[in-house]
Amino acid sequence: MSGVERTFVMVKPDGVNRGLVGEVISRFEDRGLKLVGARFTQIDEELAHEHYGEHEGEPFFDGLVEFITSDPVMAMVWEGQDATRQVRQMMGETDPAESAPGTIRGDFGLDLGRNVIHGSDNEDPGANEREIALFFDEAELVDWERVDETWLYE
Ligand code: RTP
Ligand code: MG
Repeated sequence: MSGVERTFVMVKPDGVNRGLVGEVISRFEDRGLKLVGARFTQIDEELAHEHYGEHEGEPFFDGLVEFITSDPVMAMVWEGQDATRQVRQMMGETDPAESAPGTIRGDFGLDLGRNVIHGSDNEDPGANEREIALFFDEAELVDWERVDETWLYE
């Protein structure tokens, strides 16, 4: 087993309101990724600015903050081989309209501003660790072995 890492994933308020939390969790579980942390919470303005700080100044920023703070999110940490990139692949493109069927955004979204799920950017080194630390204390993350792990990895 090599390249095991943790990544931050969040079902956004649209996904929560549309009852997609279970569906999203099932997809990652089925893939073999391991849930090591989860918190159902509502993001405040300050955390939204920290989390989406890279987009500050963009024309869509205020709307993005308003949306992400509007209702609860399901914040999670998933662990596995190449987890950050694998999650991004399973999410699809930023714009659901450009996302392939079979991806989460391609199966459950239509609009760029309502794209159901967030995952750490795999092209931004350290984004996963940074986002995990924003949402979770180390003690909230659980080290454990899935019983099927010996069959998931060579
Ligand atoms: P996320 O951070 O939410 O997982 O999405 P992402 O990496 O796929 O896309 P990112 O570029 O980080 O953009 C963050 C969110 O901002 C909204 N957005 N709107 N109107 C626009 O041009 C525009 N561009 C981005 C999207 O909702 C995106 O998820
Ligand atoms: Mg992003």
